[in-house]
Amino acid sequence: MRSSATAQPNIALVKYWGKSDIEKNLPAVGSLSITLADLWTTMDVDFATDARTDTLSVNGRTDDRMLARVSRCLDRVAGGRRPAAAVASRSNFPIAAGLASSASAFAALVVAADAALGRGRDRLDLARLAGSSSGSAARSLYAGFVELEAGEDAVALRQLAMPADWPLEVVVALAAAGEKPVSSGEAMMRSADTSPFYRRWIDDQPDDLAAARSAVAARDFDALAAVAEHNCLKMHSLMWTSRPPIVYWNQVTLLCMQAIRDMRERGRRVFFTIDAGPQVKAVCVRDDADAVAERLAATDGVLDIMRSGLGDGARLTPTECVR
Ligand code: DP6
Repeated sequence: MRSSATAQPNIALVKYWGKSDIEKNLPAVGSLSITLADLWTTMDVDFATDARTDTLSVNGRTDDRMLARVSRCLDRVAGGRRPAAAVASRSNFPIAAGLASSASAFAALVVAADAALGRGRDRLDLARLAGSSSGSAARSLYAGFVELEAGEDAVALRQLAMPADWPLEVVVALAAAGEKPVSSGEAMMRSADTSPFYRRWIDDQPDDLAAARSAVAARDFDALAAVAEHNCLKMHSLMWTSRPPIVYWNQVTLLCMQAIRDMRERGRRVFFTIDAGPQVKAVCVRDDADAVAERLAATDGVLDIMRSGLGDGARLTPTECVR
């Protein structure tokens, strides 16, 4: 009863920020994202152990920090009594630094655990299960451009375009190493409780989603750039106006944003988005990706650059599934 699955992180262009049901982890707003190709997390799940409790290793080392969330996720996949599991996670990018590592981790975890237990759920069910552990993880079950609709009792997901339909690229500029001080889950609940702008954020999200959806349908880069930057800055202004405030950015974040705006004014097709961390994600057309990567790598304080095209949803590694 073991299995292995791989998933990539996704980057939201219209953000999930706020929960309508904390217990079920239901998002208060819809969101729209792109699934990446070249950053990945693989999860091995082995229920065939004699151990009495679950164990978790991350990149080859025992790491208990995420163990409680992983165990709760496995409970939901099993839906009743289950044997203890040994879970091993491997990623090729920094964990918990605002690079959506929980999205790829929980997407891969539900796919691997479902197969190891022989449940054979469909993609939507797996996405809902992943989303109940981490809202953004639901989107990593799908390839390319993905829209998540926030229903009252459950989320729905829609594939808007495949990677080959609009092969954008993402350049990630690492603006700081290390883990974020406040988790995104905690930060969004603080925004909901204390930011005077939260209500307006909820009310306006359908307009941003509609604008992004039509930009994707028309492959209109400028329209997508406009709505994605606006939506990202709105989300961060909720954090800045929370009490106490949450500021994930540093000066390198701002320098990267300026570099991206400057490149766009000079005709490059690129825009930024930033999640719950200081890292800047530059989304661009393929022809401009080298120039964008070069300029961000040369920006003061940038520690590293990662690049990715758009890729597939979470999937099993069939040869590794043993029951
Ligand atoms: C800023 O999915 O990490 O990346 O459901 O509490 O685990 P939880 O939150 P999480 O939040 C992601 C927030 C974001 C925006 C996004 O990905 O849509």
